[in-house]
Amino acid sequence: MRKLAAVAFGAAAVLALGACAGEGAGGGGVEGGETLAPEDVLVGVSMPTQTSERWIADGEAVEAGLEELGYDVDLQFANDDIPTQSQQIDQMITNGADVLIIAAIDGTALGSQLDAAAAAGIPVISYDRLIRDNENVDFYVTFDNYDVGVQQATSLLQGLGILDADRNETGEEGPFNIELFAGSPDDNNATFFWNGAMETLQPYLDSGVLTVPSGQTDFEQAAILRWQQETAQRRMEDLLTSTYSDGTELHGVLSPYDGLSRGIITALQGAGMGPSLADGLPVVTGQDAEIASVKLIVDGVQFATIFKDTRLLAEQAVIATEAYVNGGEPEANDTETYDNGIKVVPSYLLESVIVVADNVEPALVETGYWTQEEIEAGQAD
Ligand code: BGC
Repeated sequence: MRKLAAVAFGAAAVLALGACAGEGAGGGGVEGGETLAPEDVLVGVSMPTQTSERWIADGEAVEAGLEELGYDVDLQFANDDIPTQSQQIDQMITNGADVLIIAAIDGTALGSQLDAAAAAGIPVISYDRLIRDNENVDFYVTFDNYDVGVQQATSLLQGLGILDADRNETGEEGPFNIELFAGSPDDNNATFFWNGAMETLQPYLDSGVLTVPSGQTDFEQAAILRWQQETAQRRMEDLLTSTYSDGTELHGVLSPYDGLSRGIITALQGAGMGPSLADGLPVVTGQDAEIASVKLIVDGVQFATIFKDTRLLAEQAVIATEAYVNGGEPEANDTETYDNGIKVVPSYLLESVIVVADNVEPALVETGYWTQEEIEAGQAD
C-alpha cells in the first residue's frame, strides 16, 4: 500500500510541476497533489456583502477555522457589487492565493476569475451559492437548498393550520390567500428555494385550498434582485394596493429570506394589519435565523425562519481547503444535484431546520447560535 501511495504521489508531483508552468504572477495554487506547509498557505475568502449578518458570520467563521490550521487568510466582502467582487478575487490570485473560497453575488459573473484561478492551479470552492457556467469550480459546500424551499413552504402551511407540527394534514381547507416572494434571480440558490417551495404548495394551489389573488405565480414576478429588503417592501406595498385595497384578505406570504420578510412585515403593518399574528397579521416565512427576525418570531410577529447553521458550513469549507492543501480531494456527499451548466459539481450538503416560536430555545439558544439576551434585544452582541 505504502509503495503504491508513494508512486501515486510521485505521479501527482509530476502533474503538480506541470501545473506550475501555467501559474500566475502570485505563484499560488495547490492543484495537482502537491502538499503545502501550513505557514505557506494563503486562502482567499470572498463573501458577497456585509449588509446581511449571515455573511459576516460565515466570513469570520471560515477565517477563524483556517487560521486555526495555521493558514493565512485574505477575507474580503464585496458590498453586493459585482465589479468589486471580481477585483477582489483578481487581487487574491495576484497575491498568490493557494485556494479560493467564494460566495458569489452573481453566479455567472466570475468566469474570467475562475479561468485565471485554473491557470494558476488554484482550486475553487464555491461557498453556499453555486458558481455557474464555468468548468473550474472544483467543489461546492452548501445546504440542501431544495429542501430549504420545502421547509419554507411547509412552515407557511403550518402557520396557516393546513399542516400540523409533524407535517400531517389537519383537514383545514381554507381557502387561504397567499402571495409569493423569491430571491435574487442571479443567485442559483433562489431557484432551488423556489422550486422546493412551489412543488410543496402546488397540490394546495391545485385543490383551491390556496389561492394567489395577484396572479403573480412566476419566479420572474416574485424575484427580488440582490435580496433587497426595500425592494421586497415596495413590491408588497404594490401588491396590497393592486389586489387587497378592496378588502380582500391576505393570510400568508412565502418569503425566502429574513431580510425580505422584515420588509414585507413593515409593508403589511403599514397597511394597518397586525401588528402581530394574534391580531391577524398574515403568516410570513423566512430564512437565516437573523437576530432581528428571531426576536420577531419570539414576539409573535414573523411566523417562521429556516435555520442554517453557518458554523457547520464554514467548517466544511475549512475541511475541503485542508484536503486540497494536503494534496487530496474533498469528500462529497452529493455528486448529482448541482449541475452548474457545464458540469455537475461535487458537493457537500448540510441540513437545515424550521424554527418557529416553540423551538427557538432548542434550535438557537441551546446550540449556542444566539443567546437569550441577544434574542430579547433583537441584536447580536
Ligand atoms: C443564501 C441564503 C441567504 C440569501 C440572501 C442565499 O444565497 O443561501 O442563506 O438568505 O442568499 O443573502
